[in-house]
Amino acid sequence: MHENRFLAAEAQTGLSRCEGIPAAYTGSMLRTMSGVQPTGNLHIGNYLGALVNWVELQRQYESFFSIVDLHALTQRPPAEQLRRAVREVAIGVLASGVDPEQATVFVQSEVPQHTELTWILSCVTQLGDLNRMTQFKDKSATQPDNINAGLFTYPVLQTADIVLYRAERVPVGEDQEQHLELARETVRRFNTVYAEVFPEPQVVRSTAPRVLGLDGESKMSKSRNNEIGLFETADETMQKLRGAKTDPARLRRSDAGNPDVCNIFSYHGFFTPAAERDEIAAGCRGATLGCVDCKSKLAANLEAVKGPIRERANELRSRPGELDEILAAGAVKARAAAEATMVLVRDAIGVRGPKL
Ligand code: AMP
Ligand code: TRP
Repeated sequence: MHENRFLAAEAQTGLSRCEGIPAAYTGSMLRTMSGVQPTGNLHIGNYLGALVNWVELQRQYESFFSIVDLHALTQRPPAEQLRRAVREVAIGVLASGVDPEQATVFVQSEVPQHTELTWILSCVTQLGDLNRMTQFKDKSATQPDNINAGLFTYPVLQTADIVLYRAERVPVGEDQEQHLELARETVRRFNTVYAEVFPEPQVVRSTAPRVLGLDGESKMSKSRNNEIGLFETADETMQKLRGAKTDPARLRRSDAGNPDVCNIFSYHGFFTPAAERDEIAAGCRGATLGCVDCKSKLAANLEAVKGPIRERANELRSRPGELDEILAAGAVKARAAAEATMVLVRDAIGVRGPKL
């Protein structure tokens, strides 16, 4: 049902049959959409919580992955810093294995339909629902002198990101689940009040939906300064690991440790093969392996993942023109898909919109 009307809308725009997308537009493939903010360097929380799934999903779904620069404005970064961060995060996404031949990788502000749909959806979203968002409360606490309206309506823009591509699956970390619940609520309300335009998006959780930071207490995050950066060298990582908390009850090397309460051991869960992990756990419990050795092993296994990503990132940095081309091509595809949805939306709500 959606597919037919969607194809009809595409035909109307005349935009949609541009190169690169027709096969995926047959209606046989489900869609996935996700975004990452260009607000600093990517860390292994982003990688494990979201990017790993992006790479996996791009094979089975028609995929739209965005560097969401408009969301980053809620933190008011200096223009030059934002421009740089957009490039660096795009490089990180590609270096992690997202393939622009399979997925549409684009920068949010290059698709103006995101802001158009945000206004429309903000007239459907209820204030009471936005008031419940814990991320707004957290961010207000971290930037008390800049609690702007954009911070409050942030989840409306996020909903627009998703439904603009009529995505059914959204790979994100656990911190975004509340926003996804709100997006589903908005979709239901829009579909009931106007017309069945949007599918209800579902979260796709990775096996690491909440990676803790090096403090072992809060979620790994750019703003908390507790992260292992995806582009860090092995030395830089080891330096950080040295100061990181382990089992708090293990005071001396000769004490037996408990890997079940050790944050460092939890990272081994993501990066270390099972057999080696068992050995480490046994060594910790039997006090034959010290925390420093445990950390060195982790640094080596992390490097096995980060090393190739860092190398690919360096290659991409050395060819800036290629990155520009990838993002420009992604924007063309994204705009076509977005406009096709907007034709349905404008028709459903009774506004005219631009005549393209
Ligand atoms: P952000 O950097 O806040 O734009 O987040 C980009 C993606 O990474 C989102 O899907 C987040 O849910 C995910 N993410 C961020 N931090 C973590 C974390 N510590 N653990 C798991 N996923 C995370
Ligand atoms: N809000 C998300 C975060 O901070 C990023 C994001 C923006 C996003 N738009 C999205 C995630 C759309 C998934 C889908 O992590």
